[in-house]
Amino acid sequence: MIIHPYIEVNETNRVTVGSLDAENLAKRYGTPLYVYSENAIVSKMREYTAAMRKHAPGGKVAYASKAYLTLRMAHLAHKEGLWIDAASGGELYIAVQGGIPAGHVIFHGNNKTDDEIDMAVSMGVGRIVVDSLCELERVKAIARERSRTQPVLLRLTPGIDADTHRYLATGEVDSKFGISMHGDGALLAALDAGAAPSLNLVGFHCHIGSQIFQTEPFQMAAEAMLEFAGNLKRRGGRDIRELNLGGGLGVAYLDEKELDVNDYVGSIAREVKRAALAEGLNPPSIVLEPGRSIVAQAGVTLYTVGTIKELPDGTLVAAVDGGMSDNPRPMLYGADYKVLLASEALPTKTRPYRIVGKHCEEGDTLIQKVMLPELRRGDILVMLSGGAYQYSMFSNYNGALRPAVIHVENGHPIVAVERQTFFDLVRGQARRTGYEAVPRVADQLF
Ligand code: LLP
Repeated sequence: MIIHPYIEVNETNRVTVGSLDAENLAKRYGTPLYVYSENAIVSKMREYTAAMRKHAPGGKVAYASKAYLTLRMAHLAHKEGLWIDAASGGELYIAVQGGIPAGHVIFHGNNKTDDEIDMAVSMGVGRIVVDSLCELERVKAIARERSRTQPVLLRLTPGIDADTHRYLATGEVDSKFGISMHGDGALLAALDAGAAPSLNLVGFHCHIGSQIFQTEPFQMAAEAMLEFAGNLKRRGGRDIRELNLGGGLGVAYLDEKELDVNDYVGSIAREVKRAALAEGLNPPSIVLEPGRSIVAQAGVTLYTVGTIKELPDGTLVAAVDGGMSDNPRPMLYGADYKVLLASEALPTKTRPYRIVGKHCEEGDTLIQKVMLPELRRGDILVMLSGGAYQYSMFSNYNGALRPAVIHVENGHPIVAVERQTFFDLVRGQARRTGYEAVPRVADQLF
C-alpha cells in the first residue's frame, strides 16, 4: 500500500524504502540514518527533463545541489542529463568530484570570494550568476586575467512576493540576493556586461523563493524578467538568450497540494513565450533549478526512540537519538513532518506524542504533536519527506556525528556517505603535547 509518493507499507504493516525494510536498515547501519530511494530521485529528475522536452525544448534542468549533494547524487544528476546549481566553492568541488563536468555547473552566491570566482572561471563553469554590480567588476577582471570569455547571467530581483516562509522568499525588493530591477542599475549592468570582452552575457536569472505551491508567482516573475529584457533591447542591449527562473516548487510535508511538475513547467514555458513575443523578443531558452522537489520525497530519516516521559499535564514526550543537528528545519522555519512507527505503519490504537531531539536546547523539538502507537524504547521512527535540506544543513552541535546516508538502488543498499566517527570531531585540530592519546582512546571505545 502506498501512503506517500515513494514510501510504502508492506503486507505486514511495516515501512519499506525502495522495498527494503526501514527497521532492518536502521539496525544494520545505525541511527539517525538518512535513507534515499534512488528510483524516486531518478523518476523526479525524469519528470522534469520530460516536461522540459515537451514544453521548452532546448531548455535545461539544473539540480539545486544545496538541497542535498553527495558524490553519488552528483553522479545521478549527470547520468540523467541535469546540470548543477552550485552555491559555493565547496558545492562546486563536490559536484565536479562527483562527475559533473564544470561546463554543466551554474555558479551562484551573493558574496562570492575572489578565490571562488577564480576557481569557477579556471575550471570553466557553464555560467556564473553575477549577483551584484561590484561582483560584475570582479568577474570581468578575473576572466580577463585568465584570458577567458566567461558565460554569465545577471541575477535580478523582480519584486515578486511569494507566499512562503519569510526566510524562504528571495525575490522581493529588499532581498539580499541579486540586483534590483527598480532604478537603472540593472539596465546599466546588463549593457556593461554585454559589452565586456571577457564576458558572454547569456541572459538573466531570478529565484523568487522556495516551497511555493502556485504557478502565478513564477509566471509573474517570468513576465517581469521579459519586460526587463524588452527594456534592455530598446536601450540598445542584446536579445536575451537564456532565462533562468530558479527553483522553488513546493512539496507536501503534511497534506499540502503539490503542483504537478509537467503543469508547472508548462505554465512557465507558455508565459515566457507569451511575454517574450509581447516584448518583440525571440523566446529565450528556459533553465529551471529545482532542488527540494527532486529529493525531498525520496528521502526519510530514521531515528531510534530513547527516553519517554509523561509530563504532569499528561503529554507524552518521546526523545530520539538525533534532532536539530540532523534536521534544523523545525527550529528554523517551524517546519512540520509526518512520522511513522517502522514496525506498525498504519496503527489501530494511537496516543499523542511530542517528538524531541537529544540536544541541549529546549527548542529542539522535531514534531510538536503526532498520533502514534504506544512507543517503546528502541522503536524505530521514520520521518517522511526528509530528503531536502537536512543532510546539507547538518551541524556537529553537541558533538553530534553526521549520520550515514544510504541510497537504495533497485532493492540494494549503497552507503553513499559513511557515518562520522568521533575522530572526525577532532580531525584537523591542534593537539597539545601528550594529548595524542585522546582520539586513539575514543577510537578504541567506539
Ligand atoms: N536556485 C536558487 C538560486 C536558490 O537559491 C534555491 C534555493 C534553489 C534554486 C532551489 O530551490 P528549491 O527548488 O529547493 O525550493 N533551507 C531552506 C531552503 C532554502 C532554499 C535556498 N535556495 C529549507 O530547508 O526549506
